[in-house]
Amino acid sequence: MMLNPESTQFGHEAVSPEQKTEKVIEVFDSVASKYDLMNDIMSGGVHRIWKNHLIRKIRPRAGLHYLDVAGGTGDIAFRIREKVGNGAKITLCDLNTEMLSVGRDRAINKGYLNDFEWITGNAEALPLPDNSVDVYTIAFGLRNVTRIDNALTDAFRVLRPGGRFFCLEFSHMEENYMQKLYDAYSYAFIPKAGELITKDRASYQYLVESIRKMPTQNALKDRISKAGFSKSTFENLSFGIAAIHSGSKR
Ligand SMILES: C[S@@+](CC[C@H](N)C(=O)[O-])C[C@H]1O[C@@H](n2cnc3c(N)ncnc32)[C@H](O)[C@@H]1O
Repeated sequence: MMLNPESTQFGHEAVSPEQKTEKVIEVFDSVASKYDLMNDIMSGGVHRIWKNHLIRKIRPRAGLHYLDVAGGTGDIAFRIREKVGNGAKITLCDLNTEMLSVGRDRAINKGYLNDFEWITGNAEALPLPDNSVDVYTIAFGLRNVTRIDNALTDAFRVLRPGGRFFCLEFSHMEENYMQKLYDAYSYAFIPKAGELITKDRASYQYLVESIRKMPTQNALKDRISKAGFSKSTFENLSFGIAAIHSGSKR
C-alpha cells in the first residue's frame, strides 16, 4: 500500500490534512452547545482544577496582551479576565464559530463581552502580527491542530521577545497500569456519555482517540524547543492525565 506522506491522524483514522481540519470543525460544531456540560461530566469537574492551576502559573497581570488560542467557549480567557479586571488586552482565537458563539453568550451573561477581542482563525497561521502578544495559551486545543509544529512556530512568531507560551493538554500517564485503567474508563465511559448527552458518540470517540495520539510529554517538550522556545518544560497534572507545557521567547 502506498503511504501518503501528507496523511495525518483523525483519532485512529488516517486522513489528509485538509480532511482532518474539516472533521475537527464538524466535531466542535456538533458538541458546542453541550461542550461545557460534557467537560464537567467527563472529568468530574477536574478540568476546572487544571485550568485554575494553569492560571496560577501564568500569574496574569494588567497591561499585557493575552492570546488564548483554541479558546472555544472561553474558560481560559474568562479566568484571565477575572484576575486582571479590564486592565489587559485579551484575544480569543478559535477555528470554530459555533464554539466562539457559545463563548460570546457566556461573556454576555458575565457582563464582559466587550472586554475581549474575538477572532476566527487557525492556530497554524494566526491572523495576528509578529511580536504582538505577551502570553500565549492553548488549552485542550493542540491535539486537534492538524500540524502541531506549525502551531508552535506561529505561537513563537506572534509572541514578543520575553513572551511566554503555555499549553494545557491531555497527555500520558506516568505509570503503565494507571494508563491502562484510565484507557479502560475513557473508552468505555466517554463515548457513551457523549451519545447520551449530545447524541453524538463519534465526536467523543474521536476525543478519546485523539488523546492517545498526543506526543509524549518529552517529545512535545522537544518540539516546543525546536520551534524556538527556551526553557521548554512541563508539569504533569493528575499523574499525567494532563500536562502543562511552557516555554519563553528570548
Ligand atoms: C477541546 S476544545 C478546548 C476549548 C477551551 N480551550 C477549553 O479549554 O475549554 C478545542 C478547541 O480547539 C479548537 N481548534 C481545533 N483546531 C484548531 C485550530 N487549528 N486552530 C484554532 N482552534 C482550533 C476547536 O474549535 C475547539 O474550540
